Amino acid sequence: MSAASSPTSELVSGAPRHVAIIMDGNGRWATQRGRPRLFGHHAGAKRVREIVEACPDFGVEYLTIFAFSTENWKRTQVEVAGLMSLFRRYIAKETRALKAEGVRVRFIGDRVRLDAKLIRLMTELEQETETNSRVNLTIALNYGGRDEVARATQRLAQDVASGLLDPDEIDEETLPRYLDTRVLPDPDLVIRTSGEARISNFLLWQSAYAEYEFIDTLWPDFSKAEFGALCASFGGRDRRFGGVKK
Ligand code: FPP
Repeated sequence: MSAASSPTSELVSGAPRHVAIIMDGNGRWATQRGRPRLFGHHAGAKRVREIVEACPDFGVEYLTIFAFSTENWKRTQVEVAGLMSLFRRYIAKETRALKAEGVRVRFIGDRVRLDAKLIRLMTELEQETETNSRVNLTIALNYGGRDEVARATQRLAQDVASGLLDPDEIDEETLPRYLDTRVLPDPDLVIRTSGEARISNFLLWQSAYAEYEFIDTLWPDFSKAEFGALCASFGGRDRRFGGVKK
């Protein structure tokens, strides 16, 4: 698909309402330039603004981005500390613009392992943007799909134990009410940059019927034009959700 020929500022018919992105390739982007990996993460953070701002142009109401996984703690202490510092600075710096752009920000993931200052900034950003509705940006931070399902199951089991929930009434509508994403629609389109074709523990339950796009572009090179082309291509997909074509 040619990103150059895609629309960049017009509404796409049959647009994906919810796009989720695995922003991969920051490290390789930096290495190609002979720079440390954190240089790539900083470049990656700059792409986030442009893609968030592009959402209304392409009819995307919900954007969920994978910023840090439950497995990313395995990276070096320098990289983890650098990423945490980047998240703190990003929130402090972007709050005003996000508010002005009508972006509502939510975080998913387990906050227990995050430092107190970051948790405070996240909570404040959520509160300061809670009346916005132009774009719903969800940032997955210390997020893992399996961890989310495990935490949800724990809460569900507590409700069973306390008599609030009847085990016989548990069906596939029940668990989503306990997930971090309970207020979000399921993703329609999941994009992963950098040429890797795997899902890496991202939105496992929610993506059961998502369409996938694995593209070669490294995240710091991902552009509004390419995002628009992927949204447009989604409009041509034949989604049957396990049924047959009418
Ligand atoms: C994966 O690339 C990227 C990450 C683990 C971090 C994602 C973070 C950002 C894009 C920065 C900012 C985000 C926000 C919300 C401010 P990688 O490091 O695994 O790349 P590689 O596979 O080339 O090594």
